[in-house]
Amino acid sequence: LNISTYFLFIFELLYDTESKLKMFFKKIPLFILFFAISCSDAEIVLEDDVLLKKIEIPLGFPEISFPTDNAFTPERWALGKKLFYDKRLSRNSSLNCASCHKQSDGFADHFQFSDGIENRPGTRNAPSLANVAYHPYFTREGGVPTLEMQILIPIQEHNEFDFSLVLLQERLKDDNDYQEMSMKAYGRPLDAFTITRSISTFERSILSGNSRYDKYLTGSQLTSSEIKGKDLFFSKRTNCSTCHSGFNFTNYNFENNGLYTTYPDVGRYRLTNKEEDLAMFKTQSLRNIGFTAPYMHDGSLATLDEVIDHYNSGGKQHQNKSPLIKPLGLSENEKNDLKVFLLTLDDYKFRSNKLLAE
Ligand code: HEC
Ligand code: HEC
Repeated sequence: LNISTYFLFIFELLYDTESKLKMFFKKIPLFILFFAISCSDAEIVLEDDVLLKKIEIPLGFPEISFPTDNAFTPERWALGKKLFYDKRLSRNSSLNCASCHKQSDGFADHFQFSDGIENRPGTRNAPSLANVAYHPYFTREGGVPTLEMQILIPIQEHNEFDFSLVLLQERLKDDNDYQEMSMKAYGRPLDAFTITRSISTFERSILSGNSRYDKYLTGSQLTSSEIKGKDLFFSKRTNCSTCHSGFNFTNYNFENNGLYTTYPDVGRYRLTNKEEDLAMFKTQSLRNIGFTAPYMHDGSLATLDEVIDHYNSGGKQHQNKSPLIKPLGLSENEKNDLKVFLLTLDDYKFRSNKLLAE
């Protein structure tokens, strides 16, 4: 992410929030409203086996709270999915959301940093989108309050799509499929409002709760090594589950887990300018962790073995390092147990779910 645009953007979001965004969303579409209504009548038939009719909440997960202006409907979902996989969202039509959030990689990718258009290098590791419906805020410093707003970032960032919602709306205005889908979904032509709302609807359906660990909770077996790993994970000795807690294996708090003594990326400090937020990063979910290597905000740890070695060592000294991060003294067997337990959080059905595929 380009820090200065990012700052400006976050600043606007935080201090100039709702009214301005609402005005922005309201102003643009009026121009093309009449045009779009007058020219779309071809029916789009959505095939049953590729249309999500209803959000299926995984067992043990809470209900999803949808924004009041963006309740789930199959039409909204279908529009959002089409946009998520459409490369025309990027300035030179070379990338889509799935370029960095690939289903086969648990909706993350396997690069340390993902390149944006024209191979412009990114600065953070792409996180998984599994269960983003439940996140209370977005990005590693938590500066973006909703999924709807988060979409502005990849579209506008210089090193992601380097485009804008206004130009995107212009580009797609003669696309009858889109115009018709948008009318069906939101009763208005495709515009900034329907683009951001529909993509978010699709993202809220990226749900993963069918791992071997989930099945274990409802009666299936784990191996004895996986059980030992589970007990370590949930123990006071490792503290893993204090931060990686709950059904999504994160408490979403900002923590420092001792990766460096000096961090090139200042983390939440970028948003707040407070010393206590220096090098604090949102705790990541551990679901599908076997699919989403490399790890940490900067993708600096290539494998789960490296992650476990890191925690086992107690990490580097940093003023904000959590007291929960301390040398663990795990044996080779225990490290392996912990790793095989983490791999039980992989959800293969999620990775091959046809409904979420391009
Ligand atoms: C060039 C690669 C790239 C592309 C393209 C991209 N993303 Fe991302 N995405 C990232 C990176 C890197 C982050 C992490 C940003 C951070 O933590 O500051 C991210 C973060 C996110 C998050 C926040 C997740 C969280 O845990 O807080 C969401 C949601 C998201 N992206 C959705 C999308 C959508 C929707 C699109 C398409 C409109 C998209 N991304 C396109 C790389 C990309
Ligand atoms: C003090 C809170 C805390 C504790 C305790 C903790 N973690 Fe983490 N964990 C984090 C944070 C914060 C991140 C993200 C750091 C970053 O982005 O640089 C993270 C990241 C990870 C990641 C990489 C996630 C990804 O997608 O990149 C793994 C794997 C992980 N932790 C496993 C563990 C295990 C195993 C333990 C126990 C040995 C543990 N964590 C203990 C806070 C914690």
